[in-house]
Amino acid sequence: MSALHDHLRARLLAACQSLGIDAAVAAPLLRLDPPKNRDHGDVAFGAFQLAKAVGKAPPALAAELAAAVAADAVIESAAAAGPFVNFRFRRDALARDVLGAIQRGDAPYGRSTKGGEVVCIDFSSPNIAKPFHIGHMRSTVIGNALCRIWRHLGATVHGINHLGDWGMPFAKMMTAYMRWGSETELHQSPMRYMFELYKRYSREAKDDPALDEAAAKHFQALESGEDNQERRMWQLLRDESLKAFQGPYARLGVTFDHVTGESFFEDKMAGAMQRVTAAGVLEESDGAEVVWLKELGIKEPCILRKRDGTTLYHTRDLAAVFFRESAYRPTRILYVVGAEQKLHFDQLKGVLTKMKEPVAQAVEHVPFGLVLSRTEEGKWEKFASRAGNAVFLDEILDEAVAKVREVIRQKNPDLPDADAVAEQVGVSAIVFNDLKNSRIKDVKFDWDAMLTFEGETGPYVQYACARLSSILRKAEAPVPDVAAVDCAVLADAERVLLTMMDFGSAVQRAAEQSEPSCVTGHAIALAGEIHSYLRDHYVVGQEPRVRDARLVLVDCARKLLTTGLGLLGIAAPERM
Ligand code: ARG
Repeated sequence: MSALHDHLRARLLAACQSLGIDAAVAAPLLRLDPPKNRDHGDVAFGAFQLAKAVGKAPPALAAELAAAVAADAVIESAAAAGPFVNFRFRRDALARDVLGAIQRGDAPYGRSTKGGEVVCIDFSSPNIAKPFHIGHMRSTVIGNALCRIWRHLGATVHGINHLGDWGMPFAKMMTAYMRWGSETELHQSPMRYMFELYKRYSREAKDDPALDEAAAKHFQALESGEDNQERRMWQLLRDESLKAFQGPYARLGVTFDHVTGESFFEDKMAGAMQRVTAAGVLEESDGAEVVWLKELGIKEPCILRKRDGTTLYHTRDLAAVFFRESAYRPTRILYVVGAEQKLHFDQLKGVLTKMKEPVAQAVEHVPFGLVLSRTEEGKWEKFASRAGNAVFLDEILDEAVAKVREVIRQKNPDLPDADAVAEQVGVSAIVFNDLKNSRIKDVKFDWDAMLTFEGETGPYVQYACARLSSILRKAEAPVPDVAAVDCAVLADAERVLLTMMDFGSAVQRAAEQSEPSCVTGHAIALAGEIHSYLRDHYVVGQEPRVRDARLVLVDCARKLLTTGLGLLGIAAPERM
């Protein structure tokens, strides 16, 4: 991780060897984490796994290791506390290492250049025939953060938009458009217009079974692969939807490496089905082709072909796994999709497991909770906009921006570039609110709470960045190199420095657990520490020795907050 950590790990390894533990056994188990309580030390080593590997009691091993690591120029002390060894770094070494690495942009503060993982991240993936669901907003925001976090760790990332642009839901939209649609109206406001058509279809299909029958026929015609009216219609609706999504994607800083929707797998499903057949796991059931997964504890079979010969969502996901496997050679394939699709992904992984496909290991569903909004009576309920569960992402973003613009008008009417700042802060507030808590928790959509400049919000962290920038602007001197300053001055900044040092493990945890909230939590903590440090430690107007050391601290805090926010897909304004 950092040079401090590397040094510590080397000393720990030597201590293990002095206790007769094989280096090859010890090395992979020497994981260093922030201690539960900072009063105990700067970093902690939990001896559980190593103790198990060498057949000792964890507290006994911790005590032996603590005794075997003597103080040196970097390590001030090592002390056992139960199964942990807590280490304390010398304060000048801490400042020099952390600030130097941040200034140079070394990993983990800057992007790592090594990292063998290849990670496919399937996210956003709206259905173009249906309005954007609020869940797609969460998937977009979480997936975007995971792409950035993995890239930071040096992984090769494939961000994939698996658009829902095929299958029956799409055929229904097509049917509605063919009956009632007008191309002029479609071009005017594609998403809203399609949403009207969708609602009309749902209404009328209740009393008119002919509609669903027609949709099934249109889908068959589409799947026939011929160049027919259905195919042209498909192209038109797809193009219009994609164009419409582009606006909100750009505002959220979201890009994809591949926009390979379900339709992309049209010609790859036959091959996938052959592979399932060859593996001997496909069975006939009531005219349909299915894979039973009872032995894996999954009651419902995975249906891969319907009685009428058409394919399903699952068939395309299976073809997509095989395609990604051969095209990208991924070590992980993450699906950032709401928790309500758990069964779907259990079945997908189940089929691959039953087929004894090694890629089954890589497949991982990354579920998340609901979005809740407050009812008139003040109760929290599943998010409902005026249009039901459908959302027009641009409308939500516009509302946030308008609210921030109003706050700026009141608090800082002379702010230059107020519109641009409102855009950055408004959009980020929504993103930050989504990524603040563990993803499986429901997100409360509460304008007041997410837009306040105090507490755990995006505006609060952005405000910290702007404040740091303002100090750097006002300082009468450029930021010096850390090697040129007296780090002893920063003995009073240990809380800031230790929080900075935790960045690496926060990012690592965020990736391992697909949990961007680890990065959000770090940004909140760092913003809080630097705010309170600056309450009674001035930079501007201090004697040069003090000023210079603090300038380095302020500059590094600003850099690291900007990096952290960047990993979440959030911009850091210079002023606000
Ligand atoms: N389009 C789907 C939906 O809106 C989500 C797709 C997720 N990705 C996947 N590979 N199944 O429900």
